[in-house]
Amino acid sequence: MKLLTISFALCLSFSICNVKSAKILGVFPMPSHSHYTLGITLMKELVSRGHEVTFISAFQQKNPIKNLREVSLKKAIPDNSDFKKALFDLHEASFWEHNNFVMELGIEHTKTILNLEKVKNLLKENENFDLVIIENFVNDAFLGFGYHFNAPNILLAPGPMTYLSNYFVGNPSPSSYIPNIGSRFGSNMNFIERIKNLYYDTLGELLLNFKFIPGQNKILQSTFPGAPDIRQLIHNVSLILTTSHSSIHSPAPLLPSVKEIGGYHISKPKDLPKDLQGYLDDAKEGVVVFSMGSNLNGSMLPNHLKQSILRTFGKLQQKVLWKLETDLPGKPKNVRIVNWLPQNDVLAHPNVKLFISHGGLLSVIEAVYHGVPILGIPVFWDQEQNIKNAVHNGFALNLPLRELNENTLFSSVNQILYNPEFEKNVKSRQVILLDQPMTPMETAIYWIEHVIKYKGAEHLKSPALSLMWYERDMLDVYFYILLFFVGLCLVVKRCFRYLCGKLKKNVVKVKKN
Ligand SMILES: *[C@@H]1O[C@H](CO)[C@@H](O)[C@H](O)[C@H]1NC(C)=O
Ligand SMILES: *[C@@H]1O[C@H](CO)[C@@H](O)[C@H](O)[C@H]1NC(C)=O
Repeated sequence: MKLLTISFALCLSFSICNVKSAKILGVFPMPSHSHYTLGITLMKELVSRGHEVTFISAFQQKNPIKNLREVSLKKAIPDNSDFKKALFDLHEASFWEHNNFVMELGIEHTKTILNLEKVKNLLKENENFDLVIIENFVNDAFLGFGYHFNAPNILLAPGPMTYLSNYFVGNPSPSSYIPNIGSRFGSNMNFIERIKNLYYDTLGELLLNFKFIPGQNKILQSTFPGAPDIRQLIHNVSLILTTSHSSIHSPAPLLPSVKEIGGYHISKPKDLPKDLQGYLDDAKEGVVVFSMGSNLNGSMLPNHLKQSILRTFGKLQQKVLWKLETDLPGKPKNVRIVNWLPQNDVLAHPNVKLFISHGGLLSVIEAVYHGVPILGIPVFWDQEQNIKNAVHNGFALNLPLRELNENTLFSSVNQILYNPEFEKNVKSRQVILLDQPMTPMETAIYWIEHVIKYKGAEHLKSPALSLMWYERDMLDVYFYILLFFVGLCLVVKRCFRYLCGKLKKNVVKVKKN
């Protein structure tokens, strides 16, 4: 009781209980709608809680929001359609090609953004910030914002923790049961897969340390003169917010400086446009929703594949709502093509029975949130792993792009539509996702304010950060123990020989006598 009174008094006098109004810089310049959604949703919430936000983004709100200043790079970011085309080819790339591509892309993108006039102007302004929140997406040189404004950096990882985010806070990721993001393995790996996984983890570390981080350091040094080596800034990150959750991902080790906020971007479903609402309401047999997300432009699918997909859909009893950038001639009556989909609001409709998806993390979370089973057509990065986890949890089937044809699609769709297990399993995951002590958004805000309040939250930093990689993995100790035993063996062997020799001599002596 006394303690309560004291802390209450402290609250009043120093207002340490909550952070009143902080100045926050958000850095989310990925030119992709899903990434923008992650950023703007969080920024709006921060503003609604009294903070003042400056937001570097790749798009722009239609109507300005009070206390939210958007530094929109919409017109300045170069066209990325070539890159989008390349994404479809990634489903056949090797681990090396895939990861090398992502890192080169990251270096290119980071350089481009930091060289834009609007960003340079912001750095020249006499601004002060209490905190910087960066979307962590192969862009480490952005940590320079925190350095420049002398403010703590928080990272928001648009996915589960991977070897591209663990190193900031020293989060452990054992190769034995945490599949590498580029491995395409699910979480129950057999012996051979574990060997391969160790290989991927090692290769990833090498790429990271010898290619990616030096590349980012170069950008950091040229944009923020006087900055320390990037590794110092990397190990000074205060917190990582990760958009995973154990209802969707396999449980993984997470340090106290890593918080799971998967699903925070989902808000209450909004009203649908009238015609879409009518279309879904009238679908007595149910609706199949098909979308490859916002980065994969479905118009780039080969024509014969699109025709196969249309023929398959034509055979279904259900209606099909397909998000595709261009309309297709000769589509069957039950198929409707839209070039934009309010996905979260549509998935919330009770008539939606199946979601055919590329398996992007946000899509998987939204599907679980609304209890809709998934047919995954993964293409790149974390997608295959997201889907494999979903398959493992019993609410999805995996149909990689390379195996997609009329037969496989038809049989997979029907399996999910007519086997109630899929729906049952996704509903049980939905309950787990929704049953949390604080909503994912409340968790995000709580920890963001925690970092502001404790000026970088030094107390959350892991001692792992001060160790070399071989010390962290105990390799030096194992090596020492190995040496010790080898030495011991040698000594024992020597003694044994000596004793044997003595014994022989004695035996000979005895015989002689
Ligand atoms: C690390 O972060 C703290 C607080 O956020 C800051 O005071 C300190 O200067 C930073 N150190 C470096 C090397 O950037
Ligand atoms: C998708 O690609 C088509 C043609 O290849 C193009 O016209 C369209 O603008 C692209 N859409 C998006 C959203 O990238």
